[in-house]
Amino acid sequence: MTLLVTGSAGFVGTCVVRQLIAETDEPVASVDALTYAGNPLSFGPAAQSPRHHFEHADIRDEARMRAIFKHYQPRAILHLAAETHVDRSIHAPAEFVSTNIVGTLTLLQVAQDYWRNLPEPRRNAFRFQHISTDEVFGSLAPEAPAFEETTAYAPTSPYAASKAGSDHLVLAWQRTYGLPTLMTHCSNNYGPYHFPEKLIPLMILNAVDGKPLPVYGDGQHVRDWLFVEDHARALRLVLEHGTPGETYNVGGAAERRNIDVVNMLCSVLDELQPSGAPHARLITYVKDRPGHDRRYAINFGKLERELGWRPRESFETGLRKTVRWYLANPGWVASVRSGGYRNWLDKNYGSREAE
Ligand code: NAD
Ligand code: TYD
Repeated sequence: MTLLVTGSAGFVGTCVVRQLIAETDEPVASVDALTYAGNPLSFGPAAQSPRHHFEHADIRDEARMRAIFKHYQPRAILHLAAETHVDRSIHAPAEFVSTNIVGTLTLLQVAQDYWRNLPEPRRNAFRFQHISTDEVFGSLAPEAPAFEETTAYAPTSPYAASKAGSDHLVLAWQRTYGLPTLMTHCSNNYGPYHFPEKLIPLMILNAVDGKPLPVYGDGQHVRDWLFVEDHARALRLVLEHGTPGETYNVGGAAERRNIDVVNMLCSVLDELQPSGAPHARLITYVKDRPGHDRRYAINFGKLERELGWRPRESFETGLRKTVRWYLANPGWVASVRSGGYRNWLDKNYGSREAE
């Protein structure tokens, strides 16, 4: 038995791989194209495990994907590979359509051919698990009820639209061809090994360096935050006990306004790494993101009722753990701050003069 994980070198993928290696006996075949967002250093101790087989491959490479399925004979695939940053999707949307939609199409075709030819009982037990996001549901008004699994799709950014496109393909493969799929929609994750283009790691590292903390627009946008280890646990639970064809929402029960998140981070840093003046002095309001979704909130009642999942980490404890991790891991931080990362900062923030 082998589990195939795509996007395995990314933020969530490495967490899934680390958990699988630490907490199960199963071999893991992990596939990643190692874009700027993929980093083998993030496998941590799982990098050395003889049960972890890393394949440097692009999910759009059909021949390579067929060879990987043939070689590893996976019992299931956890599909996480994607372009994931909303701001980058605004600057360069084509790559999002290519990897998220065409890449998922390629994997579906390869997985379907593989699954059709499996003998029973392996055929019946096979799963194609697609990792999606709450962003496919669009933006919520302040008092609107949280997203449910049945909420209509209304993506706004190129990232969300490309994830929605891939979701629809997965659902079509389930309905049309009977492929045993599972799908999850998760809220914003945070935690160790998060690439510092996303809000929380970017703010931690900028604050440590005494650089401005760029809050988009009025800072009142709300996200629901989930510690990445809790997301990985939810994915494993859905894989083992979810009903094929079903979708499950995953959330943190931690809705916070961006400005409150940044202020909290500043307070934690004031305590753990005092700099003589409050870090909050660095907060700078900058030009808003175009089409910026106002609020996301997730109702994960189905996952809780049917599979008994709840987040273990509170936002307060998870944020503190995350800050401590960034302070204790300057080597990892240096490894991701390549020239490409600096170019991105110039591109995204250079034109966002303070408001
Ligand atoms: P990430 O950007 O950190 O990692 C994505 C990984 O995919 C990278 O390692 C990258 O190298 C790889 N990749 C990109 N294009 C590829 C291709 N063509 N072929 C093979 N590999 C490729 O993203 P993440 O935060 O780890 O997210 C993983 C998945 O979870 C995504 O599908 C994302 O939509 C979903 N998700 C993430 C969050 C979150 O808050 N991080 C929340 C909900 C859902
Ligand atoms: P992000 O981490 O990019 O996740 P997403 O856009 O997928 O929710 O952003 C989280 C929130 O933080 C979002 O409302 C945009 C905001 N944000 C800032 O205010 N400043 C920043 O520099 C970044 C990267 C994000």
